[in-house]
Amino acid sequence: MTGAEEIVRLERRGQVGVVTLNRPAALNAINLRMRVVLPQTVTAAVDDPEIRVIVLRGAGGRAFCAGADVTEFQAATSLNEARRNREPPQWNDVIAGSRKPTIAAIEGFCLGGGLETALACDLRIAADDAVFGLPEVRLGIIAGAGGTQRLPRVVGLGNALRLILTGDRIGADEALRIGLISQIVPKAELEAAALSLAERMCENGPLAMEYAKESARRGLDMSLADGLRLEADLANLLTNTKDRLEGAAAFKEKRKPRYIGE
Ligand code: COA
Repeated sequence: MTGAEEIVRLERRGQVGVVTLNRPAALNAINLRMRVVLPQTVTAAVDDPEIRVIVLRGAGGRAFCAGADVTEFQAATSLNEARRNREPPQWNDVIAGSRKPTIAAIEGFCLGGGLETALACDLRIAADDAVFGLPEVRLGIIAGAGGTQRLPRVVGLGNALRLILTGDRIGADEALRIGLISQIVPKAELEAAALSLAERMCENGPLAMEYAKESARRGLDMSLADGLRLEADLANLLTNTKDRLEGAAAFKEKRKPRYIGE
């Protein structure tokens, strides 16, 4: 666990790693330092053997994240610096590539780079006050941290282009309708709901979740035939694990399985 003053905090709640974007005075806007510290913190959570599921949230109650830090936009970037910023892995590639499942717990503003961060997570649940949007075109730029790629994959091209080309904001109800989030909860219950969802997932086989995620995510970039082949290969790999035997034994003995991730 890092200090409370950290720009991104990691704390462990049982087997759940809670990563908090911690710049509440700037609605958790992602500045250059956060671009470095956020992926480091997510990597620390992924590398922590005690953690099985990661929850991402914003501090302060007003925002998950209001996007890239606009105050840094005025400093003219050199071509080299701009190219460096584009070099993978960006923070969102690290989140999307996490072996462990990730859940974005979203309240308040979830805009621009904030929405892109949420899109890099596997699941998104939101408080009823959540507001989503990609306002970049209004600033004369485009979403450059996965927004134009991950949003269409989650909500379809039509819904995505509506948000991308208008910069309009939508509320939690519409986000649920288009499939951007999977659940809305009252604001006061967001943290408990996110933790409870994460804790339920912690009971699943960790390797099974890892392979299922890899199959679903990588499969999206493949032909159906290649995706099915990948799925079959990963399914076969899992047949050699102790967890597979434990799952079957627990079912037979009518008890909860105790998975060890081997
Ligand atoms: N970058 C830097 N600072 C930001 C920020 C961002 N993306 N979003 C909010 N902040 C700061 C504000 O400057 C303000 O700081 P201040 O108190 O020192 O003035 C503080 O966070 C609170 O925001 P404020 O604008 O006063 O709150 P609001 O309720 O009136 O409006 C928003 C909230 C989210 C609508 C508004 O802050 C906004 O439009 N932010 C920019 C969103 C955006 O375009 N993001 C995409 C960038 S590519």
